[in-house]
Amino acid sequence: MIGARHIQNIALIGFMGTGKSSVGQLVAGQLHFAFLDTDHVIETRAGKPISDIFAQDGEPAFRELERTVVTELASRKRTVIATGGGLPVNEANLASLRTHALLICLWASPEKIWERVRGQTHRPLLNEADPLAKIRSLLAAREPFYRQADVLLNTEVRSVKEVAQQVIHQFQAARGKRNA
Ligand code: S3P
Repeated sequence: MIGARHIQNIALIGFMGTGKSSVGQLVAGQLHFAFLDTDHVIETRAGKPISDIFAQDGEPAFRELERTVVTELASRKRTVIATGGGLPVNEANLASLRTHALLICLWASPEKIWERVRGQTHRPLLNEADPLAKIRSLLAAREPFYRQADVLLNTEVRSVKEVAQQVIHQFQAARGKRNA
C-alpha cells in the first residue's frame, strides 16, 4: 500500500502518438513548470537513440533504464512528465508516479495513432510488417494499465491546445480538491 499522495507534478501516460510530448511542453509552458520526457532522459544517459538501445541491448535493458528514471522522479516538483508508451505496463512505475503526480492518460484509436506515427521511423516496436495490427494488439494489452490513470482524455477530437487546456483544468481541479 502506498502512502498519501502529494500531487505536485503532472504525468502524461498513453500510447505512442497520442501527443504526450507536444501537450506536455505546452502545459509546462503555460503553468511555468519544468518539462521532462522520460525517453529523452534515457537517450541522454545511454548516449544513443532508443532504437539503438532496443537493437543493441534489448527491450528489457530499456525497461530497466525506464524504471530507474521513474524512481528518480519522486523528488521532482512543478514538473510535467511525458512518459514512454510502455512505461505504465510496470505497475511499480504507475504506483511510484501516483504518489507525486496527477496521472493523465491521453487516448486515441489505433487508426488515429497509425495516421499520426506512420511517417516516423524512430519507434522500434513499430518496425513490423503490419504496424497497424501491432498497434491494435499492443494497445489492447496496455489498456488496463492506461485505465488506471486519474483522468482519461480522448485526443482524437481535440487539438493539442485543447488537450493542454483540459490537462491544466484537471490538474487545477485535483489540487483545489486536495487543498479545500
Ligand atoms: C514505447 C514508446 C516510446 C519509447 C519506446 C517504447 C512503447 O515512447 O518509450 O520506443 O513501448 O510504447 P513514446 O510513447 O513517447 O513514443
